[in-house]
Amino acid sequence: MNFNLSEEHIMIRDAARDFAQTELLPDVIERDDNQHFPKELVKKMGDLGFLGIMVDPKYGGSGMDAISYVLIMEELSKIDASASVIVSVNNSLVCYGLEAFGSEVQKQKFLTKLATGEFIGAFCLSEPEAGSDATSQKTSAIDKGDHYILNGTKNWITNGGRADVYLVIAQTDRDKGSHGINAFIVEKGTEGFHVGPKENKLGIRGSDTHTLQFNDVKIPKENRIGEDGSGFRFAMKTLSGGRIGIASQALGIAAGAYELALKYSKERKAFGTEICNHQAIAFKLADMYTDIEAARHLVMKAAWDKDQGNNYDVSSAVAKLYASKVAMEHTVEAVQIHGGNGFVKDYHVERLMRDAKITQIYEGTSEIQKIVISRSLIKQ
Ligand code: CAA
Ligand code: FAD
Repeated sequence: MNFNLSEEHIMIRDAARDFAQTELLPDVIERDDNQHFPKELVKKMGDLGFLGIMVDPKYGGSGMDAISYVLIMEELSKIDASASVIVSVNNSLVCYGLEAFGSEVQKQKFLTKLATGEFIGAFCLSEPEAGSDATSQKTSAIDKGDHYILNGTKNWITNGGRADVYLVIAQTDRDKGSHGINAFIVEKGTEGFHVGPKENKLGIRGSDTHTLQFNDVKIPKENRIGEDGSGFRFAMKTLSGGRIGIASQALGIAAGAYELALKYSKERKAFGTEICNHQAIAFKLADMYTDIEAARHLVMKAAWDKDQGNNYDVSSAVAKLYASKVAMEHTVEAVQIHGGNGFVKDYHVERLMRDAKITQIYEGTSEIQKIVISRSLIKQ
C-alpha cells in the first residue's frame, strides 16, 4: 500500500473541499432545520462528476478510482452528511450495481443518466419486517412471462421521493430462500408505485427518506438485473462497496467535528488560558486525532482493496464498524469541547453528532458488520 496520495488525488480532494466550503456550508443549518433536500446542489455535484465518480467514462462517469471516491466523500461529509449520503447511494449502490451487474441495454438507458446526475437513484432492500434480516423479504415479484408483477412495501428509502430510478429487491421464489430473490429496475411514475410521506429524522435531515408501496406494479422482464435468482448476492456485493462509502461518510463527520473542536479550543479561554492548554481538553484532541487517523487508514485500505480487485467484503465492514464508532464517540467529545456553544446549531457540532448516529445503523448496523467480520474469521 502506498501512503502517498498522487497529485491527481490531492487535486480531487481539494476540489471536493472547496465545493463543500463554498457551496455546502452556507445553508447547511437551514437545510437541516427545514429538512430541505439540496436539489440545486445535487445538480452542481453532478456537473463536477461526483455522482458517477467510479463509472466508466463511456457511460458518462468520471472514471476515477475508489480512493478518489472516499476522498470526495470525506470532504463533503465534513460539512454536510445529508449531501454526502446522496452521493454515496447514487455512486456505490445504484451506479455500481448497474455497472457491475446490469445489461448493456440497462447501462445505456439508466447508468448514463445516473452517472451524470441527470437522474438520481435509490436502492430499495429494507422492509418493515426485513432490515438486518435481509433474506426475509416479503415484497414479491411474480413471473408472468414477459413481465413481473411486484407487490410489497420498502421502508427507509434514501432519495425515496426524489429518485428517477429505483433498484428494488424482491422475492420471486420463496422456497429457494436467498436464491429466490431478484433485483429490478423500477422507474419513477410507474403505475401502482406510490411514495409515502417523508420521515422526520434525528440526523441527515436534508436527505430524503420515504416508505415506498408497490401495488401490482408491472415490470418488464428486461428490467431484471442479472441472472434469475442472483438478487441477494447482487445486494450483498453492492452493499460491500456501499459500506466503503458510509465508512468515509463517518470518517468525514468525525474529522469535521475534530477540526471545529481544535479551532475552538485554541480560541476559547477559561481560567486565564486557551482551553487547549488544559490537559483534559488536549488529551481529548489527541484521542480524536489518533482514532480519526486509524479510521482513515481503514477506509483507505478498503478502497485500495476495491481498486486492486481484492475481495473487500471484510475490509469494508471493518472500516464501517470502526469509522462509525469513532464518528459517534468523537462528535460527542466535540460538543463537550465547545461547552454551551456546542449545544446550539450555529457551531455545527451538534448537527455532526446527530448525523453520526445513522452511520452505525444504515447499510448494515454495527452488529451486522460484526457478523460479516466474525463469520469470515471463523471460516478461515
Ligand atoms: N457476496 C456474495 N454472496 C454473499 C455475500 C457477499 N458479500 N454475503 C452473503 N452472500 C451469499 C451467501 O454466500 C449465501 O449464499 P449460499 O446460500 O449460496 O451460501 C447467501 O448470500 C445468504 O447469505 P447468508 O446465509 O450469510 O445470509 P444471512 O441471512 O445470514 O444474512 C447478512 C447475512 C450479512 C446478515 C445480510 O442479511 C446483511 O447484510 N444484512 C444487512 C442488510 C443491510 O445492510 N441493509 C442495508 C440496506 S441499504 C441502506 O441501508 C442504504 C442506506 O442507508 C443509505
Ligand atoms: P433491525 O434489523 O430490526 O435491528 C434492530 C436492532 O437489532 C439493531 O441494533 C440490530 O443491529 C440488532 N440485530 C438485528 N439482528 C441481529 C443479529 N442477528 N445479531 C445481533 N444484533 C442484531 N434501507 C434501504 O434498503 N435503502 C436505503 O436507502 C436506506 N436508507 C436508510 C436511511 C435512513 C435514514 C435509515 C434510518 C435507514 C435506511 N435504510 C435503508 C434501512 C437500514 O439499512 C436499516 O434500518 C438497517 O439495515 C437496520 O434494519 P432495521 O431498522 O429493520 O433494524
